[in-house]
Amino acid sequence: MAEKALITIGDKQYELPIIIGSENEKAIDITKLREMTGYITLDNGYLNTGACSSGITFLDGENGILRYRGIPIEQLAEKSTFTEVAYLLIYGKLPNDAELQDWNHHLTRHTMIHEDLKRLFNGFPKDGHPMAILSCLIASLSTYYQDSYDPENPEHRQISMVRLIAKFPTLAAFAYKKSIGQPAVHPINSLDYCSNFLNMMFSVPAEGYHVDPEISKAMNLLLILHADHEQNCSTSTVRLVGSSLANIYAAISSGICALWGPRHGGANQEVLEMLQGIKEKGWTVKQVIENAKDKNSTFRLSGFGHRVYKNFDPRAKIIKKACDNVLNKLGIKDPLLDIAKELEEAALKDDYFVQRKLYPNVDFYSGIIYRALGIPTNMFTVMFGMGRLPGWIAQWKEMIEAPGMKIGRPRQIYTGPTEISYSDAKKK
Ligand code: CMC
Repeated sequence: MAEKALITIGDKQYELPIIIGSENEKAIDITKLREMTGYITLDNGYLNTGACSSGITFLDGENGILRYRGIPIEQLAEKSTFTEVAYLLIYGKLPNDAELQDWNHHLTRHTMIHEDLKRLFNGFPKDGHPMAILSCLIASLSTYYQDSYDPENPEHRQISMVRLIAKFPTLAAFAYKKSIGQPAVHPINSLDYCSNFLNMMFSVPAEGYHVDPEISKAMNLLLILHADHEQNCSTSTVRLVGSSLANIYAAISSGICALWGPRHGGANQEVLEMLQGIKEKGWTVKQVIENAKDKNSTFRLSGFGHRVYKNFDPRAKIIKKACDNVLNKLGIKDPLLDIAKELEEAALKDDYFVQRKLYPNVDFYSGIIYRALGIPTNMFTVMFGMGRLPGWIAQWKEMIEAPGMKIGRPRQIYTGPTEISYSDAKKK
């Protein structure tokens, strides 16, 4: 007999269905709760609310497990490429050789952007944050593809997904070039995804640029680790915006804004600024830890803690190891890495962090690798976004293609004034 949940309110009892996932995760289906009882559920910050069923990413925060379409993240990090992982997330299976070749071919056919779009770059101040610029440019892409962005049309979906993944690095690199006053470097379609981005970032018309394969490989790893993370803040934003049937460019642009925040992807920039503060401004590790624990201060130890991981973040483990490897291979000695390790050690011994199960997350060490690759600090969150893009797209596609898709529309408990007439309110 199927398991049911029983809920008692006053002297009445109600039966609710139980949904069981493929990894035996259990949920009480409350869709009919209000209709049956007049009650809604309330869960500030969605600590315990499932917003959808999804077959893309499995995450077990208690045991530090992360899998894309069933494949452990550790294996993908070792064996795969970012574009292959993108295919896996979006289409649900690893591509065969011909499919991968075709996919990569499409991703390199669509790397250029419309010349008119380039003029938009001139409207931004030189020091504008690249996440703001990127979000704006991604939303603007919809104005160039008005004939092919209907989310309900499978062919439109396909071409829009390809365009987004192909053009994201071009837009990101153009935004960077603009901020440093250099001319935009156009994409070279014979280069692989990461090498092409690095070339657009670092080559100049006056001088050729050799893409170091070690650098390209390290970027590939970071993008894979960021590629999806089930229903996080930015992904939920993409789903919510997409559920109104707004076009995919609008949905992804909103995801970029959500990712920008320091409690989410923006943490990678904050970590580096925090480590630099320790090195340059004379803060001590102890001071930083005490400040993070001080409830009168809003400061948090960036790169520490996670809503779901209460053991360790498996991505952080891989990145920490990669950090040592990449720096060694590139012959870089970065004092910030030593400070990060010292900070991690001190936090992991501190009762405050132990009791709250706060461990280093994906953002703690990623910035040190990005820095070693020559990526400027204000571009770190952009790199996270580039990695997360296939995850956003896969989640959006899964939602749009699910039968009976509904617009996302949470309820609330109203706590404002009860009815008062306009004239009485004026008198107050
Ligand atoms: N430093 C100091 N205290 C912390 C931290 C931190 N980094 N993270 C959580 N806490 C404390 C928090 O003050 C609270 O304490 P208390 O119980 O005394 O009120 C307790 O730990 C639980 O925190 P919470 O905010 O209720 O937990 P959450 O699950 O809502 O927040 C988080 C998760 C990631 C937003 C939070 O840990 C945080 O702000 N971390 C720093 C920012 C960061 O590194 N973000 C990147 C997350 S991983 C990548 C991504 O998703 O983008």
